[in-house]
Amino acid sequence: MERKLQSLLSTALKAISDATTQEELDKVRIRFLGRKGELTQILRQMKDVAPEKRPIIGQLANEIRHRLETELTSHIEEVRRLVRLKQLEREQLDITLPGATTTLGHKHPLSLVLEDIVNIFLQMGFDVFEGPEVEYDYYNFEALNIPKHHPARDMQDSFYLTEEILLRTHTSPFQARIMEQVAPELPIRVICPGRCYRRDLADATHSPMFYQTEVLVVDENVSFANLKHTLLVFVREMFGKERSIRLRPSFFPFTEPSAEVDISCFACEGEGCSLCKGTGWLEVLGCGMVHPKVLEIAGYDPSKISGFAAGMGPDRIAMLKYGIDDIRLFYENDLRFLHQF
Ligand code: DAH
Repeated sequence: MERKLQSLLSTALKAISDATTQEELDKVRIRFLGRKGELTQILRQMKDVAPEKRPIIGQLANEIRHRLETELTSHIEEVRRLVRLKQLEREQLDITLPGATTTLGHKHPLSLVLEDIVNIFLQMGFDVFEGPEVEYDYYNFEALNIPKHHPARDMQDSFYLTEEILLRTHTSPFQARIMEQVAPELPIRVICPGRCYRRDLADATHSPMFYQTEVLVVDENVSFANLKHTLLVFVREMFGKERSIRLRPSFFPFTEPSAEVDISCFACEGEGCSLCKGTGWLEVLGCGMVHPKVLEIAGYDPSKISGFAAGMGPDRIAMLKYGIDDIRLFYENDLRFLHQF
């Protein structure tokens, strides 16, 4: 009996050390220590043992059970350690590999310029509005002193939805809209940035869809000097404190007098370069005193109040500011271009 127990011990110890997985160890435990296991089987034969030897055998059996339990436990831990080690090896991280980076987006160059324009006018006490892009012929032309068949319409061919509804060709219709809403109250001090559409043009400096920002001030005693000063402040905020402006007589049906505004070239300080085509000046916007007819149509008395207006192209301003030579780049969504801002 004693021999049987000893040989059980050595077989069991070997089985334990041969086992490489937890399942195998569980099987070993059941095989030797389970309720129907080999140890139990041997102890069943206790009745054949002489009574005086029984306590010795019993003690030996207990020792063996205890020894095997300890071996199993420590071997299980060892197996677990090895499994974990293998897993770690399999899931090894090479921290020198380039990581999966998330790329942060950023603002489109036109958005940057529009934000600058808005902020500059907000500082000067202007309000910001957006007018509709789908507009009535009435606001786009008629109320701006451009009647049907007026030759000024030729320069602003549009996309028509019906005879009377079109995609606005400029942001100027907002002048008519806001004046009509506010008149006869005063003052009006607003800008209106937004998209405009024209059917005729598509080249490096013209796009069928482009941006404009309208400026409008209506009040008592608004003078051309107020207009010039406001534009000078804007230009210096936008293009640098050293800029000067030049106003050239021009024509717009909704302003009288009208002017084109040039800024002194910031690339050559007025010396003449490729950006300003040797002139020292860059054309940036159109402006003028609101035409008495336009005031009247909106419901103001032009003998008592006056106003000035200006219209600028953020596309053109962005092109100048960032040295971009093709307006189409703004709308093509080429990431190689957009990443540069
Ligand atoms: N709306 C004009 C255009 O698209 C630009 C313009 C010129 C707007 C003079 C004005 C202005 O408000 O006073 O050509």
